[in-house]
Amino acid sequence: MTDMAAFIEGMPKAELHLHIEGTLEPELKFKLAERNGVDLPYDTVEEVVAAYDFDSLTTFLVGYYEGMGVLQEEQDFYDLAMAYFRKVHSQNLIYAEIFFDPQGHTSRGVEFSTVIEGLHRARNDAAAQLGIDAHLIMCFLRDMSAESAAETLAQAEPYKDWIIGIGLDSDERGNPPVKFKDVYARAAEQGYRLTMHCDVDQENTVDHIWQALDVIGVERVDHGVNSLEDPLLVEELKSRGIGLTVCPVSNVYVVQDSRAADIKRMLDLGILATVNSDDPAYFLAYMTENLKTAQAEGDLTQDEVVQLVRNAFTISWAPEDRKRAYIDRLEAYAANAGS
Ligand code: ADE
Ligand code: ZN
Repeated sequence: MTDMAAFIEGMPKAELHLHIEGTLEPELKFKLAERNGVDLPYDTVEEVVAAYDFDSLTTFLVGYYEGMGVLQEEQDFYDLAMAYFRKVHSQNLIYAEIFFDPQGHTSRGVEFSTVIEGLHRARNDAAAQLGIDAHLIMCFLRDMSAESAAETLAQAEPYKDWIIGIGLDSDERGNPPVKFKDVYARAAEQGYRLTMHCDVDQENTVDHIWQALDVIGVERVDHGVNSLEDPLLVEELKSRGIGLTVCPVSNVYVVQDSRAADIKRMLDLGILATVNSDDPAYFLAYMTENLKTAQAEGDLTQDEVVQLVRNAFTISWAPEDRKRAYIDRLEAYAANAGS
């Protein structure tokens, strides 16, 4: 019998639902605040963490956007992303597709180029220094206008080769997928891969997931846990091979339940469910901790934990030969660990 905690820690892992701005740890927040002359309403790391008493998507987003204020220069974005890569390297993460929110920065007067150049430089260094293969997914903020999303897509044009896909995040209430139909269509024409958030237990969530599939044509759904409420939707996800990026510890903060039992059900139903960390600095849990939570609370077997990570490589946007190599590595690890 393998020790489950050690097994999870050692697994080669992939992350598909990670907001780079949600990796801003309090220590770096203080450092950047000092470097940029920003006044923070806190004096200590403990005070910062004590303010993480979110109980909904809306309350979380207030803290998340407030935290971004310290990110101003290219070096800040580089330092943010490198800190994340170093952290997850210690957890054996080998592949990552990372969200960034340009409008969270351009709306504060930070240039698009400043954001993407810092993140891209870190991504290159993560590959060279840590062996992590990372890619950037540009998210539109759904509580901003469709016109603003279109402007952001235009700003990204010179950097198109640095961005693997498009996502949609922020406050879902009153902001259905269909609002972004045209800009997503344009992005698809330009060759971007497509995903979007359908956060847990949001108003009209099942309807939103259907829109994401049928109106937008997404290849993945971020969260999407409420798919389980509609058997036809479950069949559709399966027949199209559309995976879900579920975030158990984030769920504890946002909907007061990890929904690990739902993850277990997804696996039983043959849905391509994955486990991810969303905003790990705010939810105090990176990939390893999220997998441990899903395993413990969903009572998952070692094979089921392997399946979750295999699913992540399968639904990633890595080329097929790389996916195969990652999955072979995962399976060799599991075979070597025994059960
Ligand atoms: N922005 C950062 N994390 C998010 C989440 N989980 N849902 C929506 N928007 C987000
Ligand atoms: Zn998210």
